[in-house]
Amino acid sequence: MVLPPLSLDRTAGSLSRQLYDGLRVAILAGQFRVGTRMPSTRALAASLDVSRNTVHQAFEQLILEGLLEGRQGAGTFVAEMPRGIPIGPGAGELSEPRGRRLLSQQGRAIRDVAAKWPEPIQLPGESRGRAFGMGAPADLFPTSVWRRLLGQCWDALSRARGLGRAEHEPLREAIAEHLGTTRGVRCTPDQVIVVSGSQQGIALTATVLLDPDDSVWVEDPGYFGAHTAFVGWGARVVPVAVDDEGLSVEVGQRRAADAKLAHVTPTHQFPLGKTMPLRRRAELLAWAQAADAWILEEDYDSEFRYSGAPLAALQGIDPNQRVIYLGSFSKSMYSGLRMAYLVVPRDLAPAFRAARQVVGGPPPVLEQAVVARFLSEGHLDRHLRRMRRVYAQRQRCLAESVGEQLDGLLRVEPDETGMHLVGWLRAGVSAEEVCRRAAAEGLELLPLSSYRARAGPEGVLLGFSEVDERALRHGVSLLRKALV
Ligand SMILES: Cc1ncc(COP(=O)(O)O)c(C=O)c1O
Repeated sequence: MVLPPLSLDRTAGSLSRQLYDGLRVAILAGQFRVGTRMPSTRALAASLDVSRNTVHQAFEQLILEGLLEGRQGAGTFVAEMPRGIPIGPGAGELSEPRGRRLLSQQGRAIRDVAAKWPEPIQLPGESRGRAFGMGAPADLFPTSVWRRLLGQCWDALSRARGLGRAEHEPLREAIAEHLGTTRGVRCTPDQVIVVSGSQQGIALTATVLLDPDDSVWVEDPGYFGAHTAFVGWGARVVPVAVDDEGLSVEVGQRRAADAKLAHVTPTHQFPLGKTMPLRRRAELLAWAQAADAWILEEDYDSEFRYSGAPLAALQGIDPNQRVIYLGSFSKSMYSGLRMAYLVVPRDLAPAFRAARQVVGGPPPVLEQAVVARFLSEGHLDRHLRRMRRVYAQRQRCLAESVGEQLDGLLRVEPDETGMHLVGWLRAGVSAEEVCRRAAAEGLELLPLSSYRARAGPEGVLLGFSEVDERALRHGVSLLRKALV
C-alpha cells in the first residue's frame, strides 16, 4: 500500500502519538480502503526511521479504537467502519460547533445573570499587596500548624484506608460544637452538611427546597452569588430593599407574599453592614412559619466582631425549624480551602445529603480531617482571636486615613463586624468611574452598584483585611487621585 506522507517532528513530543494522529486522520478521511493491509511494523519503522516499538504503540491504539484490526499471522488491516459516522479531526484541531445548540432555560438564565457579575478587576502586575481587596491575608495564616496537621492526617487516614470519599464525623462534631458556643446555633452533628463553599450550600438549598418559578426574597443590595444560584435554579428572584434593620419583611410581603424562601445576612448585612435587631428577626421568623417558607441565614463573616457580643444566630432562636444556617471557612481560614457548612433542620438532612451526593459528595476527606483537628485543638479560636485584633487595627487605620486624607470626598462609618467598609461617595460621582480610575492606580475597589438591583446612593467597598496599615494608608492616598 502507499501511505500518505507522514511527517514526524522529532522536537514535538511523542513520535508514536504523532504517527497515531497521522494514521487516524488518514483512515477517517477514507484514504485507505477497508481491508487494506498495513505495512509491517518493521517496514514502517524503517521507512520513517523510528523504532518498531513506536509503530507498534500507534497500531495498538488504532486497533483499540477499532480503526485497524490485527489478524493472527496475517498482519494488520484497515477495519470495516460504519459509514456516515461523523468523527472529528485529529488531535490538536478543533472542529466548529454545528447545528442547533440549545441551552436549557436555566442554562440561559444562569449564563445571562453571570454576565452581569462585576468584572474581575485587572490590576497592573506590580499591584500585589495593594489595598482594598476583600479576602483573608495568606501571610497571617498559621501555615506551620496546617502543614503539620496535613502530614499527620494523611498518615492516619492512609493507615486506616480512609482516604476515599467520606464524610468525616469528627468535623461535623467540631462544627456543631463551635457553632453552639460561638453563634448560639442549636444542632446535633447529623444536621451539619459540609459543602465545598457557600455557593454550593446556596445551590443545594435551592435544589432541595425550591421548585422552578418559586419566588425567593434576596436582599437589595445583596450578595450576587446567592442571586445567581437562585436564578440558575429557575426561581423567581425578588429583590427586597434593605433598611437600617436589614431585609424589610414588610416590603417582601408586599412584593411576593407567597415567597418560598428568604436569603438573609442578619449578623452583618452584605454589603451594607447593618445588624438585624431582634424585633426584625422575630418578624421574619413569624412570616416564614405563617407562609410555610424557609429562611437561608448566611453568617459569612460573623467571626470578626470587634466590640460587644454578637446576637445569636436566627437558627438558634427559631422555635419552628424553618432556618437553614450557612457558614464558611473562606473568611475565617482562607477562601481557596473551598469549605463551608450548612446546618439544616433534622427532617431535611437526608434530602440535603442526597443532593450533595449528586454534585460530587463532601469535600476531600483529608481537608475535612485537617479542619476538624484545627477546630478541636483550638487553633481556629487562637487564629480568630489574633485576626480580630489585627482587623480591628486595620479598620481603625482605614477609617482614620479616609477621615484625614479624603475629607469631603469619601465618607466611611466604623463597623463593629466584618472585613470591609462602605465608602460613600458625594452625590453625582459615578462609583464605576471611581473604580476604573482606582484600578489604574492598582487598587481593588468594587462599586456598590454591582450588588444592587435598583439604583441607590453610590458607594464603593473597601476591604481592609488583606493588607497591613502602611499599605492601607498608601492605598487611601492613591484613592484620592481617583476621587478628585
Ligand atoms: C455574603 C457572602 N457569602 C459568602 C461568601 C464566601 O463564599 P464562599 O464560601 O463560596 O467562598 C462571601 C465572600 O465574599 C460573601 O460575601
